[in-house]
Amino acid sequence: MSQELRSLFWTGSSLRVLDQLRLPFSIEYIECTSYRDVHDVIRNMNTRGAPAIGVAAAYGMALAAREAEPSQNPRQFMLDATATLKSARPTAVNLGWSVDRASAIAERTADRGPAVVSVELLKNADELAADDEQHNLSISRFGAELFDNGDAILTICNTGALATYRYGTAFGAINEAFRQGKRIEVYALETRPYLQGARLTALELVHAGIPFRLITDGMAGICMARRMVNKVIVGADRIAANGDFANKIGTYQLAVLAQYHHLPFYAAAPLSSFDLQIESGQQIPVEERDEEEVLSMAGHRIAAEGAHAFNPSFDVTPHELVSGIVTELGVFRPPFGHWERP
Ligand code: MRU
Repeated sequence: MSQELRSLFWTGSSLRVLDQLRLPFSIEYIECTSYRDVHDVIRNMNTRGAPAIGVAAAYGMALAAREAEPSQNPRQFMLDATATLKSARPTAVNLGWSVDRASAIAERTADRGPAVVSVELLKNADELAADDEQHNLSISRFGAELFDNGDAILTICNTGALATYRYGTAFGAINEAFRQGKRIEVYALETRPYLQGARLTALELVHAGIPFRLITDGMAGICMARRMVNKVIVGADRIAANGDFANKIGTYQLAVLAQYHHLPFYAAAPLSSFDLQIESGQQIPVEERDEEEVLSMAGHRIAAEGAHAFNPSFDVTPHELVSGIVTELGVFRPPFGHWERP
């Protein structure tokens, strides 16, 4: 099985987004014809993953440029679209970064009329998508160098093609190492409550033919204690200037465990996931989602009626626990904060 699943693509007049809520059992695309459609697929997590939502939002802005009615003020319309798209999810910096970049283009070209704004925003979205593809190829190559024959690699969430425009980040590195012929295996955390690991990463691992075992989130400790895994690599949604970073809930405990067991712990992300405006991870907004996602599983209630839940979607890993950050420029090593080309 080698068919590549595309997280999203532009059809020429709409954005087609793979409905990841239906994976792995059904492959269905959602047609987004307005920026509000794009907002909804990001908010509802039909599509997810920091780079993928950044690219989706860029196309959302391109759609917005075509939507304003003659009776509406086009500038105000674009400002509304900017605010709406940015509000879809707060943690991954790629979303705000991509919408701000598109918004600045819209402002710069506004005087030349809506047709020009629309062409420029579509060009921008295509560029962002192409850049993401290239950056992920570089991340994959640099990341693959971290792995050796015999490695058993622990990962969380989904950082593959589904989470990006193409190829993936942390998953891309694992995949590239395997493709180069390295004998590796993967331990993938199921990643409650959305089950990105069980539903998406397991699917991508099957497609890639990489040997792996799926474990529940609470099993990481025993796997490290028994030396069943010897390296950890994860993605990142926002990396602060000091190297602290937000990623899927459960990442922080993996980093603590890895340090206790003296295992290298890597993050992989494009430079578009860096937020050098903020000094430390404490300033990263952590999304909290509906408690229903924890109280239920696959649409079935699993907790007693009357139970309540806490549902932070991300946590922050302090830079002291990080062995390296893989980017399209290479692997940054501690001490972090001096972001010159590695
Ligand atoms: O809530 P999600 O599924 O959007 O969270 C995704 C992650 O945390 C990923 O690890 C991160 O976005 C990097 S994806 C290349």
